[in-house]
Amino acid sequence: MNVDWDELRRRARELTKRAYVPYSHFPVGAAGLAEDGRVVVGCNVENAGYGVTLCAECGLISDLVAGGGGRILAFCCVDGSGETIMPCGRCRQLLWEHGGPDMLIDTPVGITTMTEVLPQAFGVDNLDRVAHQQEKS
Ligand code: THU
Repeated sequence: MNVDWDELRRRARELTKRAYVPYSHFPVGAAGLAEDGRVVVGCNVENAGYGVTLCAECGLISDLVAGGGGRILAFCCVDGSGETIMPCGRCRQLLWEHGGPDMLIDTPVGITTMTEVLPQAFGVDNLDRVAHQQEKS
């Protein structure tokens, strides 16, 4: 599928306007292209219990699953000035689950793949291996 990166960035920038960031004042907007062609989005939602904060990617994954699931083919996130930023480590793990190694990701230095930004990732295959080992013993 052809990825309209300008459109994804535009949607991500739009979402920074909806972010709830009374503590950090650092809005983040995220947009992803799902395999069925829909665009899923998210923004960060902070909390007085700082650690409870939801990153923009959490919202995006909820949007994906609540809207019918499927894989994410391409992803980008931006800060309040509209610049592309890297997802935090926890969110790379979230994206890995629903995008896999070949998901395209926009970075400050260009478009690359999930494998590149989360090498040697832990994923569902590791759980399968544990289950098979337990079956054998
Ligand atoms: N944040 C995200 O929404 N996504 C990331 O990948 C990095 C960090 C948010 C969390 C917090 O609301 C603010 O940015 C500052 O850390």
